[in-house]
Amino acid sequence: MKFFEPFTVNQMTVKNRLVMPPMCMYSCFAGDGRVTDFHLAHYAARAIGQVGLIIVEATGVTPEGRISDQCLGLWEDAQVEGMRKLVDSVHAQGSKIALQLNHAGRKSTTAAPGHLAPSAIAYNNHEINYAQMTQEDITRVVDGFRLAAQRADAAGYDGLELHGAHGYLIHQFLSPLSNQRADLYGQDRLIFLREVVQAVRTVWPKEKPLWIRISATDWLEGGITAEDWIGWLDCLRGDLDMVHVSSGGLQKANVNVYPGYMLPLARQVGQGAGLPAIGVGYLDEDQLILHALESGACDLVALGRELLRNPNKFNDLAVRYGRPELVAKQYERAYKDRM
Ligand SMILES: Cc1cc2nc3c(=O)[nH]c(=O)nc-3n(C[C@H](O)[C@H](O)[C@H](O)COP(=O)(O)O)c2cc1C
Repeated sequence: MKFFEPFTVNQMTVKNRLVMPPMCMYSCFAGDGRVTDFHLAHYAARAIGQVGLIIVEATGVTPEGRISDQCLGLWEDAQVEGMRKLVDSVHAQGSKIALQLNHAGRKSTTAAPGHLAPSAIAYNNHEINYAQMTQEDITRVVDGFRLAAQRADAAGYDGLELHGAHGYLIHQFLSPLSNQRADLYGQDRLIFLREVVQAVRTVWPKEKPLWIRISATDWLEGGITAEDWIGWLDCLRGDLDMVHVSSGGLQKANVNVYPGYMLPLARQVGQGAGLPAIGVGYLDEDQLILHALESGACDLVALGRELLRNPNKFNDLAVRYGRPELVAKQYERAYKDRM
């Protein structure tokens, strides 16, 4: 069964197909973007639960690029040490760990000054006034991605995920609904992302995978579509190793949510772009998790809220589907009468 098999992307091999997708924990209680004891325990618990690949929550590349004041950051060297501890604690349990780099743009709610957006168009009914980014702002943020990637490598991360989904800055530049600039960044809405990818590639080791999380559709009239993304990923061919397919988040939309509702998008974009795909979204039923992989809709499956509820989900599946030897040794007795 594919779920229990290793998977290699670039030179990173994960021991099984279960991914923990990035989930903000808003637990930098001092507002300094640094790893806390909560993060260490939280991610190590999922590694003990045998999750193959853990993607750490959206991490701000600049202070104003955080989603909230309690989000992780990697905009200064002092933030590397905590990240290194986090990476080591996950590696010690045999899991791989990646970091999601983000700039929240117009969706930032931090108290940090200088909120930014491609165009001065507010997100839903946010009250903050967002300035249209100048060339200097763009250069600074692109450089922020580069420096954060360099620090992520120094911390020992195995992989890097750019947050191009859920209505944050990269997504804001890509969607015509949030990017109405008259300059080059509006005429070719891919340029910002291309600059970010190229900047990151100058510091991120060639052998380590770099990928992007996307919103394959805005679920809105006039918004971006899976076909747009297939074209953009084609333009970025050679620079990205994988795609993590989510959807929505640019602004309020009516979405028909049901178990596995984003799997057709994962299949379409992954196959259309010729890239391995992470599938995600309401994959709460065991059969659906397995089917997502067996049917070829995706190569890895991400369980978000389910892994918050049950960090040991992998063990449950291993016992239920004939692979009890994969349960963490220390927890074997918990499953003895079910093996
Ligand atoms: C508490 C919470 C925080 C989240 N934070 C992030 C994040 O930092 N970055 C991101 O790309 N998605 C984030 N998401 C979305 C999840 O990664 C995932 O795509 C979503 O929960 C759907 O998967 P699920 O149905 O398995 O939970 C978050 C979701 C939750 C529940």
